[in-house]
Amino acid sequence: MADIIDGRAIAAQLDEQTKAQVDAMVDAGQARPGLTVILLGDDPASQVYVRHKIKACARVGIRSTEHRLSADTSQDDLLALIAKLNADDDVHGILCQVPLPPHIDPLKVLGSIAPEKDVDGFHPVNVGRLSTGTGGIIPCTPLGVMMLIDSVLDDLTGKDVVVIGKSNIVGKPVANLLLDREATVTVTHIYTEGLAQIARKADVIVAAAGAPRLVKGDWVKPGAVIIDVGITRVRSDEGKDKLVGDVAFDDVQHAKAVTPVPGGVGPMTIACLLSNTVRAAQAAELGQQASSSTVPPLPRVQQV
Ligand code: GUN
Repeated sequence: MADIIDGRAIAAQLDEQTKAQVDAMVDAGQARPGLTVILLGDDPASQVYVRHKIKACARVGIRSTEHRLSADTSQDDLLALIAKLNADDDVHGILCQVPLPPHIDPLKVLGSIAPEKDVDGFHPVNVGRLSTGTGGIIPCTPLGVMMLIDSVLDDLTGKDVVVIGKSNIVGKPVANLLLDREATVTVTHIYTEGLAQIARKADVIVAAAGAPRLVKGDWVKPGAVIIDVGITRVRSDEGKDKLVGDVAFDDVQHAKAVTPVPGGVGPMTIACLLSNTVRAAQAAELGQQASSSTVPPLPRVQQV
């Protein structure tokens, strides 16, 4: 049986570290880290995500504020709000929930957030820093993926890692982080020819294609580590809704370790958002852009 990589437990460990960092800042008379979340419209999934993020802030002592705006808010008004938040010293992190309504240009909006407050790591400056290995804020899900891999593997040097999915939010940044750790990285996607064969040689598979149960049992080498980033709501045979990942979980039990869905990557994304917010606040205290050297040490867990 493959070990289950418990994302909830690892996220809880990271939250403990984050809370200790918040407490240390406040004890030292520094500003309490603050996150501002902007949500346009009433997309139900986005509302759930934002609610979770706000609740998580309270758990670790981060001050949170919410700007819930109507779906017809103009791009100019949104940009004006972000400019105000960029100039507000009490705001250390700004997160604008995507997807945005169709009349808004997401690149323009996400690019208007000050890079040092961009706790999502979506700003081109942070993307550039990541791809050149020069620090910056690392996007939350890729950072969480790396922590989950680190919980079961000591060293990635020379390991064959296959990333399935090429999104700006997961596939591309994960590939860059893996390259920085001296892994041999193959980035693939759903149109890649011979995908099963390519996956089969991997020591580590990161599945982030958004394709439910894409990775079958015979795509996985015995002893491989599998990180499942996918999360799709599907209707079961009994007519019930359930969340499934990009990996046929029951068929990959010959792997060394695998993340479940839910309870794997998902909890790590929010824990990394909190960690990024504290890093941004620490960097603001030091008067500099958050750098990779301020990333808290990665938590490690014993697999059973
Ligand atoms: N929508 C879904 N996930 C995310 C995320 O991590 N950040 C933002 N800003 N929007 C999202």
